[in-house]
Amino acid sequence: MGTRGLILSSALLLLLLAQPLLVFAATPPFACDPANPSTPTFGFCQKTLPVDNRANDLISRLTLEEKIQQLGDIAPAIPRLGLPNYKWWSEALHGVSGWGRGIRFNGTITAATSFPQVILSAASFNPDLWYRIGQAIGVEARAINNVGQAEGLTFWSPNVNIFRDPRWGRGQETPGEDPLTASKYAVAFVRGLQGDSPTGERRSEQLMTSACCKHYTAYDLENWKGNSRFTFNALVTAQDMEDTYQPPFKSCVQEGRATCVMCSYNRVNGVPTCADFDLLTQQARKSWGLDGYIASDCGAVNLIYGAIGYAKSPEEAVADVLKSGMDLECGDFVQKHGGSAVKQGILSQGDIDRALFNILSLRIRLGHFNGNPLQLPAGDIPPSQVCSKEHQDLALEAAKAGIVLLKNAANLLPLAKSKVTSLGVIGPNANVGYQLMGNYNGPPCKGITPLGELRNYVGDTRFEQGCNDVACNATAINAVIQLARSVDQVVVFMGLDQDQERESLDRIDLVLPGLQDKIITKAAKYAKRPIVLVLLTGGPVDITFAKNDPRMGAILWAGYPGESGALAIAQVLFGEHNPGGRLPVTWYPQEFTRVPMTDMRMRADPATGYPGRSYRFYTGKPVYEFGHGISFTSYSYEFEAEAVTSIYLNSSLAPRATADSDILSYDIASLGSDTCRHLKFSATVGVKNQGSMAGKHPVLLFSRWSSSEHGRPLKQLVGFQSVHLEAGESTRVVFPLSPCEHLSRAIDDGTRVLDKGSHYLVVGQKEHEIRFIS
Ligand SMILES: *[C@@H]1O[C@H](CO)[C@@H](O)[C@H](O)[C@H]1NC(C)=O
Ligand SMILES: *[C@@H]1O[C@H](CO)[C@@H](O)[C@H](O)[C@H]1NC(C)=O
Ligand SMILES: *[C@@H]1O[C@H](CO)[C@@H](O)[C@H](O)[C@H]1NC(C)=O
Repeated sequence: MGTRGLILSSALLLLLLAQPLLVFAATPPFACDPANPSTPTFGFCQKTLPVDNRANDLISRLTLEEKIQQLGDIAPAIPRLGLPNYKWWSEALHGVSGWGRGIRFNGTITAATSFPQVILSAASFNPDLWYRIGQAIGVEARAINNVGQAEGLTFWSPNVNIFRDPRWGRGQETPGEDPLTASKYAVAFVRGLQGDSPTGERRSEQLMTSACCKHYTAYDLENWKGNSRFTFNALVTAQDMEDTYQPPFKSCVQEGRATCVMCSYNRVNGVPTCADFDLLTQQARKSWGLDGYIASDCGAVNLIYGAIGYAKSPEEAVADVLKSGMDLECGDFVQKHGGSAVKQGILSQGDIDRALFNILSLRIRLGHFNGNPLQLPAGDIPPSQVCSKEHQDLALEAAKAGIVLLKNAANLLPLAKSKVTSLGVIGPNANVGYQLMGNYNGPPCKGITPLGELRNYVGDTRFEQGCNDVACNATAINAVIQLARSVDQVVVFMGLDQDQERESLDRIDLVLPGLQDKIITKAAKYAKRPIVLVLLTGGPVDITFAKNDPRMGAILWAGYPGESGALAIAQVLFGEHNPGGRLPVTWYPQEFTRVPMTDMRMRADPATGYPGRSYRFYTGKPVYEFGHGISFTSYSYEFEAEAVTSIYLNSSLAPRATADSDILSYDIASLGSDTCRHLKFSATVGVKNQGSMAGKHPVLLFSRWSSSEHGRPLKQLVGFQSVHLEAGESTRVVFPLSPCEHLSRAIDDGTRVLDKGSHYLVVGQKEHEIRFIS
């Protein structure tokens, strides 16, 4: 053991001896140190003063050059004011991550709980679970901060862009294609991460951490056939903006009270989002009431001058973004060119102070100017809270809740441990651990593999990788055939990995990579019994061949299930968990790839054969539809007999024919908030577990219109709740509905209207009609 090991173990010993000795683990340098004789003279250090006064006090003490240097993600120390440096950029998409600059895993803490990649957690349709994941990450972040391994507590998560196109490399990071799901995910996760209660009460003046809704807005393309996210100009209609792209951001800010929004690389209708006054200032800050800061995506500001050429000089780019409402740049373009922008007279001190006020107030709210972090709220969270049993159990619960059973012909699953005497495990995704984290991960607390976990169930488990890697250009067909022939049961682990879909890389195809389908088909052909196919992917894949082949008895989608995901898969295969996840995205057929990924339109255009996007508008036949997911039992639904059937609209208002309507509609704005409140009602759905196994089941309630003409969605998710039901048990699920919000639609110009006449609530095969009359 070297000197370093000795120091580490004695530090550990001290930690074990007594809690207050935590101070001996490297306390980070902090501002407003009581030991500094100047501290009492600094207004920004006075905890009892209002945040605004403290922020203005600090601003008043800075020179112009110091101010400009604070506007980049690496904000330098200002020793004369006792300020240490600050790193704004940290990530916590599904666990505290080492991506970014603020978090280091090179001290007492070397790992953090790695929850499932977001797309899998989304499949649970369970906001309570999303909240608890956010909360656990916030606790781990503070523990990391307390041992001096965080130079920042500002996390640039969640990613709430709509998963618009199945080829998108970062779709895995998002809660899927549905605006309501993405909105509810944003609210629950942000509340957890920032330390608020599940219902949104701010429990302490000091934020646990700061969350950031990204990437604002209409960002969902990396690099597809030469179209780069850095220069892409997203052409978005007002209608799609209103009912698809903006809702998750609006909820994230308004209800989730996220303290940050990140503007994206792309342009929207010609204007770089970071230079869009309307998007940043009018909508996010004024209309939605953002209380926090607006950051740029990393390097987005220099693109505005460079690759995009929207600004004619670096100074003009800096002036554009600061005047539009961006507050903090990820990068150093503002730090480099801010001074000359002021000299040229195109940027004022006032513009800079405005931005500074937003970022410094946020740091005050994180407790950065309250003295020793170990003596503040959350200063007593010890390193043992990171990778705690509780958090690792939560990671397992989340993986189990998300896994989707796509197919289970002849009830092949669950496998009976006692009957499977030998197990053949095949595929490049079977003997992998780290790959199960997806991207934007941290170092996980533990490393387990599906193969390793299955060995715990069946002693005689044999493995053949079959493909050289996930790309699968080279195969070992004969070895696969031999293994398939010789064992009792075959389970094949296929799908994607970060070499197929990731940041900066979209897919070209939707089918499985390389020769994966050949391996699966051969294994199924020679196996004694129908095989099980487990798919590890973020985005959807076209597996029509497996769906239709009776030799492929069961298909499971497990996303990238995080550090406990391998165990979750084993538990599902052997019936220790009854899967209840439902797909948060449409699984399109390969023919969808003829649609240009650059076409942002959600709505189908029959005139040109454009099929539309997502379950709300796609007119083609999906491989598996949004919300698909079966289980080892079955559930039946019933609308309550005495349910509301007609709702009177305010008769003192006249409905009007809108430009694109076939029936009379009410403009939501003219109905007014009082009337909208008046119209609220509840729909109650009875749910019964008809099978012989307990299970957790997300109930998805949709609405549809009498026609899908004039840009109306085919259907629209209006509510979801996850219920646990014992075998034979039934329950009632109450969905509070606000017609102005849930049953309205956006017309061409983005105006929201409520149609007079019939609407239908839909759950499973059951429908219930509601009529709006006056
Ligand atoms: C961890 O990394 C940071 C940044 O590279 C460095 O400053 C620090 O000294 C390292 N800590 C240890 C214990 O190695
Ligand atoms: C495997 O196939 C991919 C395309 O599917 C190709 O880019 C790659 O170079 C191939 N690798 C090998 C080792 O042939
Ligand atoms: C109906 O609309 C009128 C005019 O806007 C308003 O004054 C009244 O409060 C509304 N009534 C209800 C029940 O919402």
